[in-house]
Amino acid sequence: MKQEKGRVDLTLPVVSPEIDRYMRTLVSSTDHSVLLEMEAYAQQHNFPIVNRLVGIFLEMQAKMIQAKRVFEFGSGYGYSAYWFAKAVGAEGEVICSDMNPANRAAAEKYLTTVDLWQRIDFKVEKAQDAFTKTEGLFDICYNDADKEGYPEIWQMAKNRIRPGGLYIADNVLWSGRVALQNDLNTADSVSESTKAIMQHNQMIFNDAEFDAFINPTRDGVIVARRK
Ligand SMILES: C[S@@+](CC[C@H](N)C(=O)[O-])C[C@H]1O[C@@H](n2cnc3c(N)ncnc32)[C@H](O)[C@@H]1O
Repeated sequence: MKQEKGRVDLTLPVVSPEIDRYMRTLVSSTDHSVLLEMEAYAQQHNFPIVNRLVGIFLEMQAKMIQAKRVFEFGSGYGYSAYWFAKAVGAEGEVICSDMNPANRAAAEKYLTTVDLWQRIDFKVEKAQDAFTKTEGLFDICYNDADKEGYPEIWQMAKNRIRPGGLYIADNVLWSGRVALQNDLNTADSVSESTKAIMQHNQMIFNDAEFDAFINPTRDGVIVARRK
């Protein structure tokens, strides 16, 4: 149980720590030292990147549909983009977006060292605005921006995903808060972020144009495939 903005914040481990530790041991080897540097940076600065397990999952999802064009809402300093950039291949592109120019500079530094930067088009602006200005369909729209914006981003993205393409969003189990909400008596005790994620998840599962599944790895990753 944590305190957040004056309210009691109930959380649940999505994955038991023992299982999480075991799964991480299976994926601990890497041929790119830059990955270790990016992960160390996140640890030192408490920056919320997807971890190695989710990164590999994203890469695999992209490879499974031969994705060549990915749009990321909320790219941070390029850790999730590293996995997508590997997956799309030399002819592919990953359009990143983040409001902080320092994140773009860090992404350029890291991804240049592994020859992935030329696959990246990094927009420094609000992700929703960058998306609106970018034309065409995407193989994958990946959402990891501020949680209050999740419903809006889903609604923008869903019509811009090609048939057979994927909408993927991180943190959809939100440290278990989405499951605990029903146990709380007053709506006031539920944060705006939690409400937005719950609304987002329900909209996706109610959408007849998409098949959806939540992978309960780390903080929960939703994958919705356009039919
Ligand atoms: C959770 S972090 C992203 C981590 C990244 N996807 C990864 O795993 O490596 C969210 C990032 O999105 C940025 N952000 C949040 N909402 C945004 C928005 N609406 N537009 C642009 N950037 C946003 C934040 O500044 C932060 O750097």
